[in-house]
Amino acid sequence: MTDLDAFITGLPKAELHLHIEGSLEPEQMFAFARRNGVSIPYASVEEVRAAYAFSNLQDFLDIYYAGADVLRTRADFHDLAMAYFDRAAGDGVVHAEIMFDPQTHTDRGIPFEEVIEGLLSAIALAQETHGMTSLLILSFLRHLSEEAAFETLAQAEPWLDRIAAVGLDSSEMGHPPEKFRRVFAAAADKGLRLVAHAGEEGPPDYVYQALDLLRVDRIDHGNRSLEDAALTKRLADEDMTLTVCPLSNLKLCVIDRIEDHPIDRMLALGLKPTVNSDDPAYFGGYVADNYRAIAAARGLDKAALAQLARNSFTGSFLPADAVAAHVARLDEWLAAH
Ligand code: HPA
Ligand code: ZN
Repeated sequence: MTDLDAFITGLPKAELHLHIEGSLEPEQMFAFARRNGVSIPYASVEEVRAAYAFSNLQDFLDIYYAGADVLRTRADFHDLAMAYFDRAAGDGVVHAEIMFDPQTHTDRGIPFEEVIEGLLSAIALAQETHGMTSLLILSFLRHLSEEAAFETLAQAEPWLDRIAAVGLDSSEMGHPPEKFRRVFAAAADKGLRLVAHAGEEGPPDYVYQALDLLRVDRIDHGNRSLEDAALTKRLADEDMTLTVCPLSNLKLCVIDRIEDHPIDRMLALGLKPTVNSDDPAYFGGYVADNYRAIAAARGLDKAALAQLARNSFTGSFLPADAVAAHVARLDEWLAAH
């Protein structure tokens, strides 16, 4: 391991953009299929990995929703999340804010309760075994209706004190944020924080809508904001956290080459990017792999990497005293490394 590799792994960090369904590794897909008696259209792990060649977001989503079909029981969701927490802990993650897509499961007849109770028991175990804190973000599928999102929010009612935020994911083009303005307002009224994927494939206008119509606290991705100078300046002025996912951007052809990634441009423009893995089992790496990829491709130094880690804490939904404690621990760690 090089000095920079070790620095990246050890750097205390939070992960703010992770779809738990996207952490389903092919080996686990086979294991869950076997224990649940579900058939999958692949003969081997190698065949699954070979299928992970995407030319856009929709290509990926088709395979991602199909893969999620092996998730059936509370134990599956627990084991899935625990495997992620174990890997994240090994990558220096001390706090994670993970998205889950209830509709992907409830639409297959899996009760909301099975999904969330499995995730919550893993969250408790990750705290016990790794000292890692985590929060849940309930994500609405934007290719479905706002009415369906309202139904999902109603199903979540008994667990609202265990859910930090709502989010918006799935097919971006043709499903602008404005479609969900009422359900986001309802979620805000219930005390939930708000995030939305915007500007991954969608135009800068979708980022404006996320800010002005949904009133989000964070933008997931946000890459295409850079096409609009006024929007870029506004995001910088408002200190808006962007949850950027470099290997995802590469795999979904948001960028052609990792060398083209705008992470350092974002920093230079005064934006507040963070580094995240999005769907690590599908995109070829967990959070430290994402830091490593941009460090190598864009020549980021330790100071830039430390800034990205700092942003992950100040951009989190933790209470102010917990953020301050994480930043103080990060500074201590940096002083020693
Ligand atoms: N974009 C939109 N929806 C998603 C993604 C993503 O990167 N990952 C999982 N659902
Ligand atoms: Zn995402």
